[in-house]
Amino acid sequence: MTIQTSGLTGKTAFVTGGSRGIGEAIVKRLASEGAAVAFTYANSAVKAEQLAKEIEAGGGRALAIRADAQDADAVKKALNEAARTLGAINILVNNAGLLNVKPYDQFTMDEFDRMVAVNIRAVFAAVQAAAPSMVEGDRIITIGSVNADASGFPGMSLYSMSKAAVAGMTRGLARDLAAQGVTVNNIQPGPVDTDMNPAEGANAPFLKSLMALGRYGTSAEIAGLVAYLASPEAAYITGASIDANGGFMI
Ligand SMILES: NC(=O)c1ccc[n+]([C@@H]2O[C@H](COP(=O)([O-])OP(=O)(O)OC[C@H]3O[C@@H](n4cnc5c(N)ncnc54)[C@H](OP(=O)(O)O)[C@@H]3O)[C@@H](O)[C@H]2O)c1
Repeated sequence: MTIQTSGLTGKTAFVTGGSRGIGEAIVKRLASEGAAVAFTYANSAVKAEQLAKEIEAGGGRALAIRADAQDADAVKKALNEAARTLGAINILVNNAGLLNVKPYDQFTMDEFDRMVAVNIRAVFAAVQAAAPSMVEGDRIITIGSVNADASGFPGMSLYSMSKAAVAGMTRGLARDLAAQGVTVNNIQPGPVDTDMNPAEGANAPFLKSLMALGRYGTSAEIAGLVAYLASPEAAYITGASIDANGGFMI
């Protein structure tokens, strides 16, 4: 992978859950635009180290850090390590997320707590660790979901709850950080082809039928929107939840 330094040269980005799927595409895209990129993972150590090496081999700077999003202190420590190694964080991308779909009466309270810890609490912890040192033009971007606004089918109570929560958190944080010149936005993808939601999986034909475009999105399409929101061109967008969902249930 060759780094063509451009709009994000001199910036440092931090991406949670960057070893696979949408997060991996975001790491690659931000690195390809010249940012130094730190990213976390929970289990995929080999994949994460390979990705960091690939970026370094192409002339970029990258750092893979194991930090389970269930542990807010681990997330905060990872942000501090990234800042010490690569420089103060300019772009925080909260991507790590957990999907758990089943009827409301089959969830345990531990599963409820895990959903809250990974999809909501870790996002807030990362913002608390990163935002105080952020300056004019810096960015916070969260990967929410179309399911914040449209569950679409049964079994989505906890996931929809978690993604609606980060949309609300985004609006609140946008107000808190506006005076600092930091924008805070939330991307709401529809079905995207990853391990979490494979385009050839059992649910795919039904999901495709819900979208005007009739197909899954790609991780690169979501990463492109992240790159735009991270760029100076997006300076007037804050507190927004932006859909990238192929026309899901429109
Ligand atoms: N795919 C979709 O259709 C879709 C649609 C809308 C929104 N989203 C959202 O987009 C985000 C990324 O989804 P994806 O489809 O790329 O998921 P994925 O294929 O399951 O990949 C998840 C990534 O997050 C990391 N991760 C998972 N749990 C973690 C934890 N507890 N701590 C730290 N890292 C963790 C994984 O690391 P390991 O490799 O170490 O496990 C991996 O890098 C999520 O927030 C998801 O809710 C996805």
